[in-house]
Amino acid sequence: MDTPGGGAPPVIRIESVSKNFGAVPAVAGVSLDITRGDFFCLVGASGSGKTTLLRLIAGFERPERGRILIDGEDMTNRPPYARPVNMMFQSYALFPHLSVADNVGFGLVEERRPRAEIRDRVAAALELFDMAGLSARKPHQLSGGQRQRVALARALVKKPKILLLDEPLAALDKKLREKAQLELVALRERVGITFVMVTHDQEEAMSMASHIALMRDGALCQVGTPRQLYDEPQSRFAADFFGVANLFDEAEGRTVMVRPEQIAVSRERPQRANVLAAALTNTVFLGNAYVCHFALDGGKVVQARLSPADMAALGALATGERVHLSWEPAAARVLTS
Ligand SMILES: Nc1ncnc2c1ncn2[C@@H]1O[C@H](COP(=O)(O)OP(=O)(O)OP(=O)(O)O)[C@@H](O)[C@H]1O
Ligand SMILES: [Mg+2]
Repeated sequence: MDTPGGGAPPVIRIESVSKNFGAVPAVAGVSLDITRGDFFCLVGASGSGKTTLLRLIAGFERPERGRILIDGEDMTNRPPYARPVNMMFQSYALFPHLSVADNVGFGLVEERRPRAEIRDRVAAALELFDMAGLSARKPHQLSGGQRQRVALARALVKKPKILLLDEPLAALDKKLREKAQLELVALRERVGITFVMVTHDQEEAMSMASHIALMRDGALCQVGTPRQLYDEPQSRFAADFFGVANLFDEAEGRTVMVRPEQIAVSRERPQRANVLAAALTNTVFLGNAYVCHFALDGGKVVQARLSPADMAALGALATGERVHLSWEPAAARVLTS
């Protein structure tokens, strides 16, 4: 099989896949390779086709066009249970009347595995999630984070080649969610399989993924590493989706994009090519940085992000004060779409 860039063959190959629901093109002509052992994140606005693409990989949906290959084998017409894939759903309901151990072992019981094997594999899965002591509890006796770990253990106990996760952390509060993000990345490293995770949270994707695909209206907008998507967005949409983008329209539909941390603020006019006069409208202190908003003479708002050291060097800035905003030519990215 062709392997672009000469690397290992992809564990998942999606070839020109389309899926419509009536008149709605939920997934529209998507082609994508996912590398073995990747932590791959699908991001995009609500309704952009993330869950549908995951369900197509799992086999819960059949494409109208295109093929899906896993390890080079065509899976397009295989039912979900015959694919080396497991999916943790957007709402990962546990069985309320079953213990933690029975929830985790449910899929193995369905497969009619021998009892001793089920017992050993469930014990190993609970051990992996540090939940051995909770095996007899019922879901209502667990915290949100523990329930989420039971759902993950249930998805991994069948030893899939690929684990598909649809917004697995959405139910957790911010603190628990950040802890769970680190745990999931560490877990993927421990089990060594490929994770494909849907999230609509760009920060979550940036901090967890080795590669990200940004979806828009069922199509792929851009695929790359978190750094590529942040530093080299190929469209205004991508620039705006990941982090904050200051967009300056130029002639002939061109736009220059500059990130807030690339904008320097000074009272003196600097000797640089790109200088704009602006007035401070407000400052927000975030602990490790100051986020300042400035109004250009035409009214356009520009955001700059200053370190506490930059702010100290600048001296106190008053609201309404006029300053110069500038950036190095290399910090600007020209976008045409
Ligand atoms: N079973 C279905 N029947 C009809 N339309 C559907 C069905 N499932 C999804 N859709 C439509 O397909 C499009 C893509 O839906 P999908 O669930 O894949 O989006 P998503 O990116 O996962 O969104 P969210 O972030 O809200 O979960 C939407 O317009 C949705 O309304
Ligand atoms: Mg969804």
